[in-house]
Amino acid sequence: MSNDGVNAGRRRFLVAATSVVGAAGAVGAATPFVGSWFPSAKAKAAGAPVKVNIGKVEPGQQIVAEWRGQPVFIVRRTPEILSNLEKVAAQVADPESKASVQPTYVDPKSRSIKPEILVLVGICTHLGCSPSFRPEVAPADLGADWFGGYLCPCHGSRYDLAGRVYKSQPAPLNLPVPPHSYESDTVIIVGVDQEKA
Ligand code: FES
Repeated sequence: MSNDGVNAGRRRFLVAATSVVGAAGAVGAATPFVGSWFPSAKAKAAGAPVKVNIGKVEPGQQIVAEWRGQPVFIVRRTPEILSNLEKVAAQVADPESKASVQPTYVDPKSRSIKPEILVLVGICTHLGCSPSFRPEVAPADLGADWFGGYLCPCHGSRYDLAGRVYKSQPAPLNLPVPPHSYESDTVIIVGVDQEKA
């Protein structure tokens, strides 16, 4: 009777000891795998898609979101802005973005999914400054042939309101269009491609 009690106690101890070793072994094996294959929370946040509500962006207005640490310009273009793009087409270096960065599902001329909504990475393709939004037509400092666009404060590169760089500027390429999609009429997801590309 007493022997049974000792043996039962010993069995319980052995089972418990084996379980602990097994658990430690599993953790030891799993840790390097997790460390190698899963990005840190900070890295995930830095590359994560960003949802932007554009419902309150007025015609002619720009809002600036942030994606991957970069400014993303979102403009609600008016019919006048869109027709002005045609007027400057002969003066921009890459009117259909053949050499510039934009997703294939973006219209080559308006550089957008929906003509009225422009989405651009706001980083000058010369040396990386962030261009200023200058939507006015013919302001005194930019001249009578300015139809609205972006002016880079660093070395003066000029872009139109499709982010297309004018000819003979320090910047070689159009402002990039980032991957983006519509979750609804009022919500854009920057960093996720439009389906049915
Ligand atoms: S960085 Fe924009 S013109 Fe040089």
